Amino acid sequence: MNPDLEKIKKSVSFERTVVLVKPDGLQRGLIGEVISRFERKGLKLVALKMIQVDDTLLEAHYSHHIDKLFFKSLAEFMKSSPVVAMVLEGLEAVEVVRLLCGTTKPTAAVAGSIRGDFGMGLPANIVHSSDSVESAKEEIVRFFEQNEIFEYDKTEYLNIYFPD
Ligand code: CMP
Repeated sequence: MNPDLEKIKKSVSFERTVVLVKPDGLQRGLIGEVISRFERKGLKLVALKMIQVDDTLLEAHYSHHIDKLFFKSLAEFMKSSPVVAMVLEGLEAVEVVRLLCGTTKPTAAVAGSIRGDFGMGLPANIVHSSDSVESAKEEIVRFFEQNEIFEYDKTEYLNIYFPD
């Protein structure tokens, strides 16, 4: 491996985070656009797949929303077509991805963010992203088998990070 890449890997504290492109993102042909935004930012895609979620998975994933009035419509929406799940890696990836996605409510999301540029309503806010490093760890295990997560070197890191 390139010695500078080795240094970057040792000195930068990388995080991983989960993104789901929700059924509205899939129906509206925004999968490529969403992935492209993360790629252009410099995030590394380490896992990617299309899945059909079911009630068991949704009750675990949205357990903190299960008592909310909108849970039923959220669950119906999330099951209405497949979703695209991915794991992204990078420096402070959880916060960086949340900023790129924009706030939960698309009408309040800043222009330039995914929800700010493409969304109007709820629950159809195009993407889900992990809200903390701890949730990201749980969501990675919830959505991915170990052999679906890829370890590889991204030479682009030489142009993105600088070893301390
Ligand atoms: P997400 O980031 O996946 O986290 C919880 C989801 O619940 C959220 O995005 C929205 O899709 C949905 N949601 C949050 N608030 C509301 C609401 N008031 N009405 C309907 N859906 C909501």
